[in-house]
Amino acid sequence: MDRIKLALVGCGGMGTRHLYGMRELHETPFNNMELVALCDIRTENAEMAASEAESLFGNRPAVFTDLETMVRSIPDLDAVSVVTDPSVHHSVVCQALDLGLHVMVEKPMAITVGACRIMMEAAERNGRILSVAENYRRDPSARLVNHLLATGAIGTPYLSWCHALGGGNTIFITPWRHLKEKGGPLLDMGVHYTDLIRYQLGDVAEVYGDARLVEKVRHKPEAIGDNYAFYQQRHQKMDDTVPATAEDVSVALFRMESGLTLNWMMGRGGTGGTGGEMILGEKGRLESFGTRGGNAVLEIAGEGKKSQSEILADVDGFELEPLAAHFFPDRIAKENADWRLIALEYFELADAILANGTVELDGLEGMKDVAAVYAILESATARTAVSLDDIEQARIYAYQQEIDDFLGI
Ligand SMILES: NC(=O)c1ccc[n+]([C@@H]2O[C@H](COP(=O)([O-])OP(=O)(O)OC[C@H]3O[C@@H](n4cnc5c(N)ncnc54)[C@H](O)[C@@H]3O)[C@@H](O)[C@H]2O)c1
Repeated sequence: MDRIKLALVGCGGMGTRHLYGMRELHETPFNNMELVALCDIRTENAEMAASEAESLFGNRPAVFTDLETMVRSIPDLDAVSVVTDPSVHHSVVCQALDLGLHVMVEKPMAITVGACRIMMEAAERNGRILSVAENYRRDPSARLVNHLLATGAIGTPYLSWCHALGGGNTIFITPWRHLKEKGGPLLDMGVHYTDLIRYQLGDVAEVYGDARLVEKVRHKPEAIGDNYAFYQQRHQKMDDTVPATAEDVSVALFRMESGLTLNWMMGRGGTGGTGGEMILGEKGRLESFGTRGGNAVLEIAGEGKKSQSEILADVDGFELEPLAAHFFPDRIAKENADWRLIALEYFELADAILANGTVELDGLEGMKDVAAVYAILESATARTAVSLDDIEQARIYAYQQEIDDFLGI
């Protein structure tokens, strides 16, 4: 077997983008997977994705509305990719693992730390791979920042900030993103940043945070930028307003295991915003953690700023993995970064299944990303600084307990 058989579970907005990611992989000599089925509790979403897949691959995958029937119909299915909303990640993923499948699940790994732990146990119990799809760190800019830090380009980092605070009161992509029990904007966007922070700066030791819900009613935006048919159709059907229950603005201080201090401001709501990332080291600074389609910027004290192409011109020992080098020969993500980073995730999953290997973001890593976001919300609830050990072990859990109780976790 040189290609795994895979089914996509959850055929909404990101599910559609996953199809384009698979197409990117299909068009390379590295292709190691075949999309054989689509599954969604809403038949119309699965059928729409099947039409999209047919136009991308030339054949229409089988459509299902439940996992068990799908596995019975396709006994040689190897894996599923779970791209549902986060409130059901744990139930869908555990069912798939118990059916003997390998799983990749979109970020955030799960709706709470408790739900992440249930998934980790299911992967362990079944001896199956559990991979968390976190695309930002796979971008060449993030890989380059990681290389520069590892090779001491800015000396020992001591201070950092990560600010991604956008104002406004419109619905952020989907109505569910404003509901606490489905994963609010802080969890949805925040895990991208906690993952990048951990990838570049190591584990978080302690967090002091605050969070609030500023926009209690969200309004349908007049138009959306995404051209995918799915997003446009959903926008047409969207309710005019959504009552929000999830916090939308957060501020925090992270003390990292390394001793570095990081200032965090993140959210989607309110009357103002700010953005920018920085890692200050003894010899210089990096003005970004790297991100999807992003660019690294380096400034060594007294030498002026260097763009990513200038850094690349004289960096030593920096190589992308072979498929990434195929996609991004200049080592800068220029075209189709969204799809190509997804393609890298699929390639890695299939490769790990075929070669009995491991993945970069397993359940433990995915759980740590989720825990770092909840550390802010648990700290805000407890009104004290919290240790990541207490959050990861669910010893401090008041905020998440409400979600677990609501969902029956
Ligand atoms: N990595 C990224 O850049 C990125 C971007 C967007 C979304 N995401 C993630 O992708 C996931 C999905 O987000 P989205 O925006 O596509 O949401 P969405 O609401 O557009 O799509 C979710 C789909 O899952 C289906 N679904 C729900 N419960 C199901 C179940 N039990 N079984 C099968 N299907 C089910 C829904 O019917 C819907 O079609 C989330 O975890 C989100 O955070 C990641």
